[in-house]
Amino acid sequence: MEYHNPVLLKETVDGLDIKPDGVYVDVTFGGGGHSKEILKRLGPNGRLFGFDQDEDALANALDDERFTLINENFRFIKRFLRFHNVKSVDGILADLGVSSHQFDVAERGFSTRFDAELDMRMSQKNDLSAYGVVNEYDEANLRRVFYDYGELKNAPAIARVILEAREHEPIKNTEQLKAVLSRFLPAHKSNKILAQIYQAIRIEVNQEMDVLKEFLEQSLEILKPGGRLSVISYHSLEDRLVKRYIKNGMFEGEPERDFFGNFSVPFKTIGKLIVPDDAEIRINNRARSAKLRIAEKI
Ligand SMILES: C[S@@+](CC[C@H](N)C(=O)[O-])C[C@H]1O[C@@H](n2cnc3c(N)ncnc32)[C@H](O)[C@@H]1O
Repeated sequence: MEYHNPVLLKETVDGLDIKPDGVYVDVTFGGGGHSKEILKRLGPNGRLFGFDQDEDALANALDDERFTLINENFRFIKRFLRFHNVKSVDGILADLGVSSHQFDVAERGFSTRFDAELDMRMSQKNDLSAYGVVNEYDEANLRRVFYDYGELKNAPAIARVILEAREHEPIKNTEQLKAVLSRFLPAHKSNKILAQIYQAIRIEVNQEMDVLKEFLEQSLEILKPGGRLSVISYHSLEDRLVKRYIKNGMFEGEPERDFFGNFSVPFKTIGKLIVPDDAEIRINNRARSAKLRIAEKI
C-alpha cells in the first residue's frame, strides 16, 4: 500500500519559490512526496532537511547527499537545525496532520474503521496515548478536549458518560469507545461525530495546537528575509492559527498600531488561500479538507 499520496504537491512546492542553492526544511516528511519535489528543484549545492516524529517514516529516507532526515518533533526545529549547523533557511514546508500510512495501520489507532487499541501517538516515544486521555483525564479536562478540539457542543455529556463507563472497566479499544458513546452517535451522523471525537483526542495526544504555535514562532526566527513558508492544514483550528500568525504575527488579538495607525507584520501573504480542485479530491479523498497558505518573511 502506498505510504502517502502528497496533497497540493505542485502548489505547495511552488509556494517555496525554490532557489537552487537554498536551504529548505520539510517538517512533515511522511512518505517524502513533497521532499522529492523540492530535491528536483534544488541544484547540487542546495540542502533539504526533513523532520518526522514517526519512526515508520525513516524507512522512506531519500538516498540523496543533499538530504538529511531528523526523527524528531518539529516543535524543536530550531534546536535540531542548529545541531546541524544551520541557523537560517530559505523555506519551510509543513503538511500538517496524519499520513495515510498512520491511518491505514490499524494498530496505530487513528482510524475508527478498525477495532484497535486506543493509541493515536504520532511518535512512538510519546508517553501520552489516547488510552491515557480517555481513561485517566479528569472530567474538566475531558470536557475541554471535546469542546475545544472536537468543537462538540455536548462535550460535558460526552465526558460524563466516559467517566461513568470507566468506573466499571477501562475503555481499551475502538469498539468499547463506540459502545460507550452510542447514545451520541445517531446512525445518520455517526461517522461525522465519531470523527470529531477522534480528532479531539488526537489533537490532545499529540499536543498539536501547542506544537503548531511553537513551530510557527520558530519558523519566523529562522527564515531569512524573503524566505517562504508553505503550510497545509486539515481542520479549522489549525488553519485559524496559521492564518492569524501569517497576517498579524500573533495568534490572538491585533498587533499594536504606531502613532500613524500602521502596524508592522512579519510576513507578506503570497496569493490567496489554495484548496485542491475536484480532480485532485476525486483521486485523493484525503485532500478534501486541505487548505494551503503561503507567506514570505519580510
Ligand atoms: C500529512 S503527513 C505528510 C506527508 C508528506 N507531505 C508526504 O508527501 O508524504 C504528516 C506527517 O508529519 C508527521 N508529523 C506530524 N506532526 C509532526 C510533528 N509535530 N513533528 C514531526 N513530525 C510530525 C506525521 O508523523 C506524518 O508522517
